[in-house]
Amino acid sequence: MRAIPQQRLTGILLALLCMTTPLVPADTSTPPGPFTDTECISCHTERDPDLIKQWRRGPHAAASKVVCSSCHGVQHAGANQKARQDQGCTGCHAGPASHSYSTSKHGVINRIAEGRQDWNQPLQRGNYRAPGCSYCHLHNGNHGDSMAPNHGPELRQWICSGCHSPRYVQAQLGNGKRQLEIADLKLTEGKKLIATAGASKDNALLKLQQSLAHHRKNILYGVGHQSPDYQWWHGQPALDGDLIRIREAIGKPHPESPLHTSPPGDSKLNR
Ligand code: HEC
Ligand code: HEC
Ligand code: HEC
Ligand code: HEC
Ligand code: HEC
Repeated sequence: MRAIPQQRLTGILLALLCMTTPLVPADTSTPPGPFTDTECISCHTERDPDLIKQWRRGPHAAASKVVCSSCHGVQHAGANQKARQDQGCTGCHAGPASHSYSTSKHGVINRIAEGRQDWNQPLQRGNYRAPGCSYCHLHNGNHGDSMAPNHGPELRQWICSGCHSPRYVQAQLGNGKRQLEIADLKLTEGKKLIATAGASKDNALLKLQQSLAHHRKNILYGVGHQSPDYQWWHGQPALDGDLIRIREAIGKPHPESPLHTSPPGDSKLNR
């Protein structure tokens, strides 16, 4: 091999260097920040008018005081990565929303995989093993809640089917719909019973009415987040318990109420 003269070598290296490091860094189009939320909104309204429209119509618009920086922080560096992680949501939604998810298979898988997930990846099929909060609710950057019922069942079905077979998903969503219908029958029955108490509604009955609504919401979390605990333990049996207590309170116990008929052999139970 012929030796390359020193001068030519420097020339080649310089040329290579110029090719790999352009004089103008590629990312100057993304200003680093920090920015105020008014600045985020005004600049991105020009760039992504659809995204801003979705955000305004969704649950996180200015009215609920959830602004761009609540999820993304105030700077561009890591803005997407931060918003994609469950911790970006669970601080504000610390109650049943997070608990039902963490007791679902999706939540358990993500907890086990914590630290190994590459959050640079967009929230799309193939990039994640199990869906986290953002994967479902802000899928493909949809800032208007991609799980909201006003999209119809189609969008939800399509998102789940990125990982499950369409038939399996249909069965799950069908089951969820039936569970909510049953819950609504119980809710209506409870409200009717309370109405029969008329003006004599006391504090205990009003509390029971709130309890009905609370347990109905648990079932929504149970079927939405595929958490058996919330469908059953905190859901349907809890609603049944409310109905029993309402009947008790208005003095109309159901003939088969467990509070009034002892199961066979009950006296033998060692309590
Ligand atoms: C002066 C204009 C401007 C302001 C202000 C601004 N952005 Fe951006 N933003 C951009 C540009 C340019 C990009 C590059 C991507 C593109 O072309 O849209 C970007 C990209 C993003 C991305 C995508 C990042 C990625 O890695 O793909 C997010 C998220 C984002 N901005 C959020 C915000 C938030 C949150 C704020 C306020 C704290 C904000 N932006 C303020 C112009 C702006
Ligand atoms: C509830 C949390 C949340 C809020 C509030 C929010 N974002 Fe986002 N945003 C996300 C998530 C999560 C992603 C990543 C989506 C993905 O990977 O598909 C994202 C992605 C983006 C992107 C990149 C979109 C793309 O297709 O690459 C931009 C730009 C952006 N957000 C701007 C904003 C601006 C501007 C605001 C305020 C008006 C805002 N976001 C408010 C959670 C949020
Ligand atoms: C700064 C606090 C905050 C953050 C961060 C936040 N949220 Fe919210 N979220 C709210 C508030 C406030 C509301 C509106 C009031 C309500 O319904 O609870 C809301 C509403 C919602 C709703 C609709 C609830 C309903 O009853 O209709 C969903 C779904 C939701 N958020 C999911 C998410 C997800 C997913 C993330 C993370 C990407 C997130 N939120 C991040 C505070 C927050
Ligand atoms: C597998 C997809 C999926 C995941 C993961 C997920 N959600 Fe949900 N979430 C849903 C569905 C579906 C519903 C029910 C929406 C409906 O029918 O109103 C729901 C309901 C909710 C609601 C109540 C909305 C309402 O209308 O009252 C909130 C708040 C919420 N989720 C927040 C979260 C948070 C926070 C996380 C993460 C800790 C999370 N979700 C994870 C799919 C998901
Ligand atoms: C990013 C991929 C992904 C998405 C999207 C996804 N899932 Fe899953 N899901 C999984 C994985 C992985 C498991 C665990 C499978 C296992 O245990 O064998 C799982 C488990 C489940 C289970 C529990 C099954 C069991 O054996 O207990 C149900 C139910 C379920 N998913 C329904 C849904 C529904 C409904 C949606 C949409 C709202 C959805 N999934 C979206 C990946 C996903």
